[in-house]
Amino acid sequence: MCFFRYGGEPGAMKPVKAVTLWWVLLLVSRLGATRKESLEEGSFYYGTFPLGFTWGVGSSAFQTEGAWDQDGKGPSIWDTFTHSRKGNVLGEETADVACNGYYKVQEDVALLRELHVSHYRFSLSWPRLLPTGVRADGVNKKGIQFYSDFIDALLNSNITPIVTLHHWDLPQLLQVNYGGWQNVSTANYFSDYASLCFEAFGDRVKHWVTFSDPRTMAEKGYETGHHAPGLKLHGTGLYKAAHHVIKAHAQAWHSYNNTWRSKQQGLVGISLNCDWGEPVDISNPKDIEAAERYLQFCLGWFANPIYAGDYPQVMKDHIGRKSAEQGLDMSRLPVFSLQEKSYIKGTSDFLGLGHFTTRYITERNYPSRQGPSYQNDRDLVELVDPNWPDLGSKWLHSVPWGFRRLLNFAQTQYGNPPIYVTENGASQKLHCTQLCDEWRIQYLKGYTNEMLKEPFLSYMQIMTEIMVPTVCTLCILIAAVLLMLLLRSLS
Ligand SMILES: *[C@@H]1O[C@H](CO)[C@@H](O)[C@H](O)[C@H]1NC(C)=O
Ligand SMILES: *[C@@H]1O[C@H](CO)[C@@H](O)[C@H](O)[C@H]1NC(C)=O
Repeated sequence: MCFFRYGGEPGAMKPVKAVTLWWVLLLVSRLGATRKESLEEGSFYYGTFPLGFTWGVGSSAFQTEGAWDQDGKGPSIWDTFTHSRKGNVLGEETADVACNGYYKVQEDVALLRELHVSHYRFSLSWPRLLPTGVRADGVNKKGIQFYSDFIDALLNSNITPIVTLHHWDLPQLLQVNYGGWQNVSTANYFSDYASLCFEAFGDRVKHWVTFSDPRTMAEKGYETGHHAPGLKLHGTGLYKAAHHVIKAHAQAWHSYNNTWRSKQQGLVGISLNCDWGEPVDISNPKDIEAAERYLQFCLGWFANPIYAGDYPQVMKDHIGRKSAEQGLDMSRLPVFSLQEKSYIKGTSDFLGLGHFTTRYITERNYPSRQGPSYQNDRDLVELVDPNWPDLGSKWLHSVPWGFRRLLNFAQTQYGNPPIYVTENGASQKLHCTQLCDEWRIQYLKGYTNEMLKEPFLSYMQIMTEIMVPTVCTLCILIAAVLLMLLLRSLS
């Protein structure tokens, strides 16, 4: 395997401890029996793909390119993190060479043609284009040339590029000099970088993803320290990082909308990863609330500001209350000004969704005195059903029905936006050296099948378009009759 596994960090491989984010729950077999996905081999049951449905595969720069210090590329925080030899990464692996993709443009495009995909998503390395991260410090021409050639090679093969601007590999100098995503200035540097990319590649690239899975970047980079830059600023750093990422996203979208859209006619969105959170006991309101909280702290954290103009109310409430209980005069969750809210709202032309697995969620009240942390703020526990098939990573279980539920949730929460599934799939089992990936075929079939299912929206529409007005009309009628009776009895 050449692909650098971000998930290969030692934290992901440790045995489950009390503090681990999810616990193994021995769910009663009733749940397992009624909700277990069917694993039998079979074809797709839910019809065919609609016209215009597109299949693609994807990668990211740090995980595949290699050539980490070649042709003028500056270091990224991931180069530094993997080079530090402090046991940051399982097996002390680096991505200095990875798939050597920097030198394999023609081979990679040939492989994509063989796969018959129509779209390929990849990310640009910010420090390959801007070695210090700052546009004013100089552009690396060889970096521009590399991506330009790659885009041309894709288009010559009729493969549409979907380009991610930032997939975690922040220029190291922005981290060292300014504190990286802890500093709001990084949003400006990002916006300058984004404009450079629109300018250089936007004549050919029509699908832009500003950030890929910024939640993991914030949580693992600034809360747990399992990912670069390896900071453990519990309960504060991740919210600040996310706050600046959201601003950076909005700035890049506006820059595209104001300067480039009219000429280039492309789309700019964000890609958010989230697992589905299912209440352990669907008849327990506390579990239902906890599962909702799980989703809002995961997807809503980024999607709500972008689609509705602010953080989810439940995040503001919980983090605000905990912060006060911890003796702080301000919430650890930063606040958007009114101006910022309207600036950020509506800045995604599509919603990119990354999805892999599902958790059962139950409420757990953590005392605030345990100190600030993301875990403490959410007041919940994540569990897995031991009957779920597990795949190549400890966190990854195949639970196709969770995917349908997440799609429904995203559709209804964010006003039925166009959704691109930007990540889904099953990681390699380490011991599997041959083509023994029947389990992966099952996983992909199961998840694809759920995507094909009739959206729940039609049911929701019945609810909102027929039920709600009917109930309202009935209420008004009853109120009118009661009022008449009351007036009559009075007169
Ligand atoms: C944030 O970045 C700016 C440069 O854009 C710098 O002047 C400032 O000192 C940085 N703040 C921190 C706390 O590092
Ligand atoms: C996007 O650009 C168009 C055309 O310039 C403009 O009319 C519109 O107001 C912009 N949208 C936002 C939200 O700024």
